[in-house]
Amino acid sequence: MDELQKQAHYTDLLRDILPLRYGNAHPKAHVRTYGCQQNVADSEKIKGMLESMGCTLTEEAEEADIILFNTCAVREHAEDRVFGNVGELKALKRKKPSLLIGLCGCMMEQKHIADRIYKSFPYVGLVFGTHVIHRFPEMLYHAVTTGKRLVERGYDDGQIYEGIPMHRDGSFKGWLSIMYGCDNFCTYCIVPHVRGRERSRQPSIVLEEAKAMVQAGYKDITLLGQNVNSYGKGISETASFPSLLKSVSEIDGDFWVRFMTSHPKDASKELIDVIAENPKICNHIHLPFQSGSDRILKQMNRHYDKAKYMEIVNYAKSKIPDLALTSDVIVGFPGETYEDFQQTLDLIREVGFTSLFTFIYSPRVGTPAAKMDDPVPYEEKSRWFSELLKVQEEIAAKRCADMVGKTYRVLVEEQKKEGILCARTQNHIVVEAAGTSDLIGTFQQVEVTEARNWILRGKFL
Ligand code: SAH
Ligand code: SF4
Ligand code: F3S
Repeated sequence: MDELQKQAHYTDLLRDILPLRYGNAHPKAHVRTYGCQQNVADSEKIKGMLESMGCTLTEEAEEADIILFNTCAVREHAEDRVFGNVGELKALKRKKPSLLIGLCGCMMEQKHIADRIYKSFPYVGLVFGTHVIHRFPEMLYHAVTTGKRLVERGYDDGQIYEGIPMHRDGSFKGWLSIMYGCDNFCTYCIVPHVRGRERSRQPSIVLEEAKAMVQAGYKDITLLGQNVNSYGKGISETASFPSLLKSVSEIDGDFWVRFMTSHPKDASKELIDVIAENPKICNHIHLPFQSGSDRILKQMNRHYDKAKYMEIVNYAKSKIPDLALTSDVIVGFPGETYEDFQQTLDLIREVGFTSLFTFIYSPRVGTPAAKMDDPVPYEEKSRWFSELLKVQEEIAAKRCADMVGKTYRVLVEEQKKEGILCARTQNHIVVEAAGTSDLIGTFQQVEVTEARNWILRGKFL
């Protein structure tokens, strides 16, 4: 029996066992996701498996029979939130002793964290890491039938398990993982330690999944990986990210495709050309630069310098009309000086990002940066951080003002309040406009009529 057949067998068993245990033909499961789109995509698999077992999904932890938190380890703040939220579950478990509480995801791949969870939260019945998600039915079966606490972590077999059931959260915006793991080992980052080595899915499988999504009505598909530019390594001579992206964009149908994350060290002119030549590929690139100081980039093990970053940015700007660039930036890396930080601000001003994800450096156990000298106090880093936000706010305000009077094709995403909809342009900018909820999930034309506090208003044409 292959691995997934075995899991299908446990799924069948659980379909009978869970209703008896919970006195409900369709027990309720609550899955809460922390962290990035990788975890969102994993949670969609966990939800798919739960549905295959006959469970229904609920947004309310209070009414659930099974609660799973899919956790993120990228910064201390993310971990603290999880510890706090798990603490709050104690009362629920007391009220409903049959409640099964499970924790999974990136935090659980760190031994010191899994140990702390095991000791501090005796009511957590199941702990599993990122590499064994495909075995969730088997683990749940053992946790439920034996009543013993189960911890399964630290097994990276380097495999990709295709064919796990999936419950996609959105009906017109969707994530499509093209690869897993990361080999880059940036010195501050825990991801390679908790997600394992980089491995790519076969292009034919990705294409089939993309086609199925388009047929199911998805309008905005994001190809997902920690470093999509190195897609294809180890699976074939010819597989490459630009060619995969092009093939996805050539699928029949009216949809947009975007991707994240691309690492500047591997972003090629070929990739930019493919974006420029294929109208379904969004004119939006998320290209994290992390720091504008060459000295700090070296310490971070990023394998590019500011000149190389600017070269690819300038090439992209010259080729792709109305390009939006977004990025991640870390403030206060160990040893960073105010002068280094000023170089980060210079880069931000030079590029003119549409938006930034900004982080204060957070030491991660087991990473090289956590052992580096870090003399700048946190309060000082916070001041730099505020300075950066101010610079970015001015850039964003100008960009918004420049859009007034222009017309864009948008995908209507959600209702903000009665009668007001939020729609997004190809280059990832949100515009609010009056309209009815039946427009959600459709492409429309919108004319931007005003920009106020970085919020754009417009009218559908
Ligand atoms: N693979 C992506 C990023 C994944 S993590 C890439 O290389 O761009 C998302 C972001 O979190 C990173 O880009 C970085 O800006 C931030 N980050 C990662 N580790 C961090 C740490 N220890 N402290 C602060 N920010 C961190
Ligand atoms: Fe982390 Fe660097 Fe890998 Fe991104 S590329 S996940 S920042 S190690
Ligand atoms: Fe967090 Fe794991 Fe993503 S550490 S940022 S959820 S890969």
